[in-house]
Amino acid sequence: MKRILVIHGPNLDLLGKREPKIYGRVTLAGVNKLLKKLAKTHKVSVEIFQSNHEGEIVSKIGGAKKGSVSAIVINPAAYTHTSVAIRDAIAAVRIPTVEVHLSNIYSREAFRHQSLVAPVASGQISGFGEKSYELGFLAALGLL
Ligand code: DQA
Repeated sequence: MKRILVIHGPNLDLLGKREPKIYGRVTLAGVNKLLKKLAKTHKVSVEIFQSNHEGEIVSKIGGAKKGSVSAIVINPAAYTHTSVAIRDAIAAVRIPTVEVHLSNIYSREAFRHQSLVAPVASGQISGFGEKSYELGFLAALGLL
């Protein structure tokens, strides 16, 4: 069975309470429930990981050896805009990766307009709330 790794970056554990006007009322548990349902429907396995620590995310990507993880769906959150290390980890493992964001990062502050991850991702989905994860997951299925 193909395996998809979903990675949630920093502060996404606070979804539901965190700036609801921007991120909505959905909780991380709600997002994960949706992802598990999608995985079941499409007969793939899903591993879900959240961390507030850059190095832990880098190690998780590095450990996702080609073959055991078929695709990655990642919301790098604030690290999107700062982390050369996460970008390099994605480039190193060469596993097809979909970048997702709940909010439209291009309609927000200028510092969010640049993604260091986008150039090494297969594509990016931004601005559809929790639906971004659904679209991202479906895009990842298409890359398997
Ligand atoms: C985010 C957008 C980022 O700019 C921000 O730092 C986040 C969440 C999103 O999902 O919209 O933490 O990745």
